[in-house]
Amino acid sequence: MPYAHTMAMGIIAVHGGLDTSREKQYIKILQEAALQGHELLSKNRIQALEAVLQVLEESPRFNCGYGSVLNFNGIVEMDAAIIDGTSSRFAAVAAIQDVHHPISVARALMEKTKDVILAGDGAIKFARKHGFPTANCVSEEQLDAWQKARESLARGEKPTQNLYTGLAYHGDTVGCVVWDGEGLAAASSTGGYSLKPPGRVGDTPSLGGGIFASRTSAVVCTGLGEAFIETLTSKYVDEAIAAGSVPEQAIKSALKRLHAQKGAEGGILAVDCRGRVGSAFNAGQFPVVVVVDGKILEDYQPVNLRRELSVH
Ligand code: GLY
Repeated sequence: MPYAHTMAMGIIAVHGGLDTSREKQYIKILQEAALQGHELLSKNRIQALEAVLQVLEESPRFNCGYGSVLNFNGIVEMDAAIIDGTSSRFAAVAAIQDVHHPISVARALMEKTKDVILAGDGAIKFARKHGFPTANCVSEEQLDAWQKARESLARGEKPTQNLYTGLAYHGDTVGCVVWDGEGLAAASSTGGYSLKPPGRVGDTPSLGGGIFASRTSAVVCTGLGEAFIETLTSKYVDEAIAAGSVPEQAIKSALKRLHAQKGAEGGILAVDCRGRVGSAFNAGQFPVVVVVDGKILEDYQPVNLRRELSVH
């Protein structure tokens, strides 16, 4: 059942990416991130989102920041985006390299400029100008996975590693939605997919594709980005909620549509302006943590549509 919120103290819902493990250590980091965000929610919902995403970007377990997958050339190129539903201010960085927290660069872009998206060298120059130092984003585990994948390719074999991580375990874009009792906001961060072509940009900085927020809802998506961009899935969820659906119903309908149109798998998380959280997925795993008024909803589970919307 969708969770219906009655007290105006705030909700944070965070996911660790499609097919990311649900083992304890992953859930624990998601819970820590959500609780840190909650501390800031009454002050500033954008600051709260940034705090949540920073925790995940620091961890090598999630495909963002330091845990990002490597592109075909062995470089980490990251995308991150943030949006406030009330002001509709949106900002994103795309294919950015060598920064500790892409989400913080996106926030700085939103708050210090009128620009909306900066990519590649321009994003890096902006980051340096605004005090973000050079940082190593290549973890040993990801470098090792990339080397193995390239060796497989050199032997003419298809790499056996997961598309999103190149590792034995899976994982994609992380994201967070918040409702502070007055407004909604959303943020996402990702390394994209393993062995992606240099310069490739996914759905994370694609407004209406992988992320959206309005006065009605805040929505974040995870899965192979091209399908979300081409179907404008996050915007579809927002429109369905505006037309009267509860978030869970809107998300289930969006996943059915994504599956029918693109044969794709994904995970979607949303909260609406009545404080109702919804989430669903049609892949192996989709770890979601929901914090309401500072308390973790221990029994919260996203809806699993894998059997109904199987991709393989
Ligand atoms: N969802 C992450 C990407 O495709 O870039």
